[in-house]
Amino acid sequence: MLKRNGRLMLAGALLVSSAVQAQGVAADGQQVAMQGDGSGAPCMACHGMDGAGNNAAGFPRLAGLDAAYIAKQIRDYNAGTRVSGVMQPNVDNLTEQQILDVSAYYAAQPVPKAQTGGDAELLALGEKLAKRGDWDNYIPACESCHGPDNQGVGASFPGLAGQHGNYIKQQLNAWRSGARHNDPNQLMTGVAERLSEQQIEAVAAYLGSRQAVAAEGGQ
Ligand code: HEC
Ligand code: HEC
Repeated sequence: MLKRNGRLMLAGALLVSSAVQAQGVAADGQQVAMQGDGSGAPCMACHGMDGAGNNAAGFPRLAGLDAAYIAKQIRDYNAGTRVSGVMQPNVDNLTEQQILDVSAYYAAQPVPKAQTGGDAELLALGEKLAKRGDWDNYIPACESCHGPDNQGVGASFPGLAGQHGNYIKQQLNAWRSGARHNDPNQLMTGVAERLSEQQIEAVAAYLGSRQAVAAEGGQ
């Protein structure tokens, strides 16, 4: 009995330590953001130290995204289920701990102010798609997976509100072309395939104009 208890306590201790590890350490992640993976360019060169990214260049905002979602994407680049010649060389030398740390760092950065404004008609079309979908073409509302106001749900459904419009467009096209096929059960591929060019323009503009709220654990 004593022995059994001892083993249980050990199992408990291991669980606690792996949970701590799985969270990453933002302070160590800052180092990774500044120095990169040792063979590629530092993250900050494209995503910024603040994780704001850059709309014109197509660099996504990382600030305030869910840490576990960020970590999954880095692993997906390395596994080849998400293909980007620009991104992959910068993360292929990271250790698992560095992946967790840099993800924790960017998740904790305050979300920047969204850039509002744009073509009112286009934004209205995008809002309709985001909130109600387009059932004539079997397209569900983005909100039905990405959560209220598309602020994201946990690690699986990233926040889209306040993500850069050009990056959103680029990703919708990546699912259509197959360059990105890292979505569980092809949940996102099925949606992207049915969107028209105009719907992609509209929903990217609308989502980009929304103010993001940081995922839980962020600021
Ligand atoms: C040379 C520029 C560049 C550098 C350096 C860079 N990235 Fe990226 N990053 C990009 C681009 C471009 C994309 C979008 C690629 C695509 O289409 O998938 C991206 C995408 C990402 C994504 C996916 C975001 C999302 O919302 O799914 C993550 C996470 C990420 N980068 C993390 C990092 C980290 C961590 C580092 C440093 C270790 C880094 N990046 C270095 C350009 C860069
Ligand atoms: C059936 C569920 C579902 C619906 C509906 C859905 N998505 Fe997604 N979407 C996902 C999943 C799951 C992912 C994350 C895949 C992964 O693990 O990388 C995702 C990721 C994305 C991303 C990538 C974000 C990033 O940071 O790289 C974009 C952009 C996106 N979705 C846009 C949309 C838009 C626009 C709509 C509405 C027209 C929509 N989604 C509707 C499931 C869905």
